[in-house]
Amino acid sequence: TVIRMQIETTPDLVSKVYAKITENITKYRKLVNRPLTLTEKILVGHLDDIESAKDLEPGKSYSFLRPDRVALQDVTGQMVILQFMQSGLKRSTLPTTVHCDHLIRAKVSGDVDIKVALDENSEVYKFLESSSRKYGIGFWKPGAGIIHQVVLENYAFPGGLMIGTDSHTPNAGGLGMLAVGVGGLDATEVMAGFPWELLYPKRIGIHLKGELNGWVAPKDVILYVAWKLTVSGGTNAIVEYFGPGTKSISCTGKATITNMGAEIGATCSVFPYDEKMEVYLKSTNRGQIAELANRYQDILVADPEVEQNPEKYFDKVIEIDLSSLEPYIAGPHTPDLARPISKLAEDVKENKYLDTISVALIGSCTNSSYEDMTRAASVAEQAKSHGIHVQIPLLVTPGSEQIRATIERDGQMHTLNEIGATVLANACGPCIGQWNRPEIKAGEPNTIVTSFNRNFPGRNDGRRETMAFMGSPELIVALALGGKLSFNPLKDTLKGSDGKDFKLEPPKKAPEVPSKGFSNIGEIYVPPAANPDEIEVMINPTSGRLQKLEPFLKWDGKDFVELPLLLKAKGKCTTDHISPAGAWLSLRGHIDKISDNIFLGAVNAFTNDVGKGKNQLNGNTESFPVIARQYKEKGLKWIVVGDNNYGEGSSREHAAMSPRYLGCAAVIARSFARIHETNLKKQGVLALTFVNPSDYDKIQETDKISILDLSQIQPGKNVKCVLNHKDGTTDEIALKHSYNDFQIKWFKAGSALNIMREREAQ
Ligand code: F3S
Repeated sequence: TVIRMQIETTPDLVSKVYAKITENITKYRKLVNRPLTLTEKILVGHLDDIESAKDLEPGKSYSFLRPDRVALQDVTGQMVILQFMQSGLKRSTLPTTVHCDHLIRAKVSGDVDIKVALDENSEVYKFLESSSRKYGIGFWKPGAGIIHQVVLENYAFPGGLMIGTDSHTPNAGGLGMLAVGVGGLDATEVMAGFPWELLYPKRIGIHLKGELNGWVAPKDVILYVAWKLTVSGGTNAIVEYFGPGTKSISCTGKATITNMGAEIGATCSVFPYDEKMEVYLKSTNRGQIAELANRYQDILVADPEVEQNPEKYFDKVIEIDLSSLEPYIAGPHTPDLARPISKLAEDVKENKYLDTISVALIGSCTNSSYEDMTRAASVAEQAKSHGIHVQIPLLVTPGSEQIRATIERDGQMHTLNEIGATVLANACGPCIGQWNRPEIKAGEPNTIVTSFNRNFPGRNDGRRETMAFMGSPELIVALALGGKLSFNPLKDTLKGSDGKDFKLEPPKKAPEVPSKGFSNIGEIYVPPAANPDEIEVMINPTSGRLQKLEPFLKWDGKDFVELPLLLKAKGKCTTDHISPAGAWLSLRGHIDKISDNIFLGAVNAFTNDVGKGKNQLNGNTESFPVIARQYKEKGLKWIVVGDNNYGEGSSREHAAMSPRYLGCAAVIARSFARIHETNLKKQGVLALTFVNPSDYDKIQETDKISILDLSQIQPGKNVKCVLNHKDGTTDEIALKHSYNDFQIKWFKAGSALNIMREREAQ
């Protein structure tokens, strides 16, 4: 049908995009008269107004872009669609898909867990499917696969621009697409036909030389980069890979690398178009798109001068010789705590990490390609031939039904099963805390190893005591065979069933795509309805999972005077700390109920308590959501103070929406993570930073904070803040902000959505 054609990435659509990029680049070259990076070509090629290109300053000015598509997952997507419903529009204005991957909880095995999920989440799935059919959105059913894998297999294309309501949307950079994780409201706006606003990013170039070999995998490239740049090193930047080494990495390997660019806070990461991408496009039935990309190659790679003199065109350049890279393991608790596997045993001893591993997990959107599974199976094959099994449970999460069915057909799954692996559903599962682990007692410290992309405390199983270490799938299978974190498969031996010691060989070179093609899969996709007006969106008014939204109130034009401090967060305060996932995931479509989770993971800077602080109304120590509700009942707004890189991690808009819903007026931080800062702005919460970061230390537990002269707020101008301490003294401090004129309107209107609704009503 016509509507279905809109969802797919058709050759016609791609050729229009390429024509537009070509036209814009030609104009831009005249303006800047210098060689261009790939990042610039794609961004400039998608500008809403090419005339605005002359003013673009990386890291300073805002660009307005026209993405080619939007991807939503089943958790964040609920709120996007609920918001879209408020806009008054009849259908999404650009290709949009919904992917049911986050709500499936891992417990027994793929088949069993999917049945349970279908039952438990039936009202959410019904809502997503009915609203997708009504609003012109493609719907991928539970079990179809993880959003980023399905997008890579079906929709991503070189030179494209997409946004997705999930932080690992940059996965599509492995296929040469600029793909950015955004908050839900960004997605709603773009679906409603507004351009997408992005702080014009800086550029980080990563020059790859040599070739991966032996145990070294694409995962090691990104773990090394994360270690080198740290979790905030990519903030407001796009990471562009270039150099001869890029050609040696498969398309799906590239996707692993760009996927985890999110771990350094990068806007996204991208690889230049090459033969590996061509191979992947062809093997996923997109030969015509590959032909187009071949024809338009010059717009899908950086200009040759960039590689010759990268320092001139990137803000920062890192060089990596793939031939001398070692396998890395990162963790616990942060993805930038990486070291080569050769140093891990020493680290385990020194830091007293629990050496015995409790569970090993491979797969997820990051590492579940055909190549990954084949290399993991190659390690498993060796164990099998020596008659041994994994010493601990090994759980496998295929990225999509296409991958699952293909590795079942081609034998990798069988090999993994034979050494004791359990295959879970094609879903996020343990990667996002959807993991039922009754065998571990509450508070019991334990070590797990994964090939996932995040390892924050509480991330995988909702338990802060679990220490998660990450590496490539093949390394994780080796660790599962060794059973200990200190086991180094490159030098240590295992004991075969014959009692003899043997050393694992590096995994065999694996095919990037199956030689027989991918397996065909069944009916797991639902196109938009041909009769949308007749479709009713299914929301039960008494639902505990879904709630229609009410608009936030407009700013009343008054200064914030003597508002109580709810929380002064110490150290890392990710969106997982602000709005934890785990069991709360099921409430993402219900703003009132989910708000009972706010700041439950945040560390109180005064007491080091997690999730609780002083209630300024009664002096008691209570949990943050309980205090916030009491303030709200009394009509009191309140303030949060954050440390560095506040709000890093996922793009979860609830981390801004729930505080706003319970009365948060402003967040003042030493610095913000990009997506979260924008989310706060969009929900009408003032996002401010200290002019002098050491002023953070002046905030006291019982402070009442005033933010003054708000009617004068303007771009580039500091904001006055007075800290009223309990002993009657005060401190006046200056705060900065990054609001532009447009964003100031969001604040004044109460939210960005309020502006959108007003426009539609006109
Ligand atoms: Fe899902 Fe984990 Fe990826 S939550 S989308 S598998 S990062």
